[in-house]
Amino acid sequence: MQSTAPYRPPPTVARPEVQSLRSSKIREVANAAMDRKDVLPFWFGEPDEETPDEICDAAIAAIENKRTFYVQTLGDPGLRQEIADYLSRWHGPIGVDRIAVTSSGTHALMLALQALLNPGDRVVAVTPLWPNLVEMPKVLGAHVETVALEFSASGWMLDVQRLLEALRPGTRALLLNAPNNPTGWTISRETQEIILAHCRRLGIWIVSDDVYQRISFDAPCAPSFLDIATPEDRVISCNSFSKAWRMTGWRLGWIVVPAAMLGDVGKLIEYSSTCAPPFVQAAGQVALSRGEDAIARTVARLRQGRDHLAARLGAVPGVELAAPAGGAMYTFFRVEGVKDSLAFCKQLVAEAGLGLAPGVAFGPEGEGYLRWCYASSTSRLDEGVRRLASYLEHNPNTR
Ligand SMILES: Cc1ncc(COP(=O)(O)O)c(C=O)c1O
Repeated sequence: MQSTAPYRPPPTVARPEVQSLRSSKIREVANAAMDRKDVLPFWFGEPDEETPDEICDAAIAAIENKRTFYVQTLGDPGLRQEIADYLSRWHGPIGVDRIAVTSSGTHALMLALQALLNPGDRVVAVTPLWPNLVEMPKVLGAHVETVALEFSASGWMLDVQRLLEALRPGTRALLLNAPNNPTGWTISRETQEIILAHCRRLGIWIVSDDVYQRISFDAPCAPSFLDIATPEDRVISCNSFSKAWRMTGWRLGWIVVPAAMLGDVGKLIEYSSTCAPPFVQAAGQVALSRGEDAIARTVARLRQGRDHLAARLGAVPGVELAAPAGGAMYTFFRVEGVKDSLAFCKQLVAEAGLGLAPGVAFGPEGEGYLRWCYASSTSRLDEGVRRLASYLEHNPNTR
């Protein structure tokens, strides 16, 4: 007999791991005000200048030549070779048999995690950190433990001993981003060597997020684990065209893995994106072969922004800054009395027309801090600092 009970549809929600992912608190501040012309935004991490013309022209030419079909899963052979040559110039020989082209740095990181993580695996991340990298392992059911960088007037510091203690037997992977978003912290060669030796002993993978490697103020290329690792080490480097080549909207990156893993990474690309768009890859090839002047100009401009902002912000009463950091494009600073950075950033937008990213977006360790992306002209930075100073002066209690 047919049931007469009314049909009750089952829940139409994502699985619990996905439901419990945190959504971006930077977006929470920005979404409400993105179309407000009176707001001066410094909340996102992207260069404010357009992609260099030469790179755009390469994509236009590729479209005109109808390079609009599927291409190889691991990437166009010409671009893969260009990436191998580029990396070999900076880090010593790196073979094409270790390289795949990805549809962004984010994609490269997700591929690395998909290749490594089982549900229940334990990973350790050095924080404060770009929030995606902390949430992505959770999509796969892994647990993330954090080791926080420490704030001091001389700069952000990593307590290496604490990190090694957290990297105990059974840890699957270390996630490390240096130069770091949001603090600008860069890792030293000596620290890299200690970490690599420890991870080798315990069989722990190092997933190195190198997307700010060329936004480096102390050397033309920040230290990379690729400099010291052997091709067989459990080291994966993820990189992106977004920052150094000013290509955030193009969605292009690459991944370097041990050669034995490349075929499996190819399968993951097949099942996530099939391949990066060929005309975007054509642009990437020109970026790598002819982009050094543009990078030098971008870094010079960012250095100017970093120093200018540090000088101006440092003069605002109540602001506490670390010494200018060695890389990336952010100042991560405190304002005396700010306990709830999300609420404070929302107030700043509403009442001062100033868009900053709340420190809590980068993990609980970032609470009380604010992130300012200084990829901007000095006159815009000045206006931003003026708005912050004026807000603090008129609202001593809202902190
Ligand atoms: C630390 C870090 N890693 C990776 C990415 C991702 O870059 P992409 O634009 O290539 O996805 C970002 C972007 O902001 C980032 O800050």
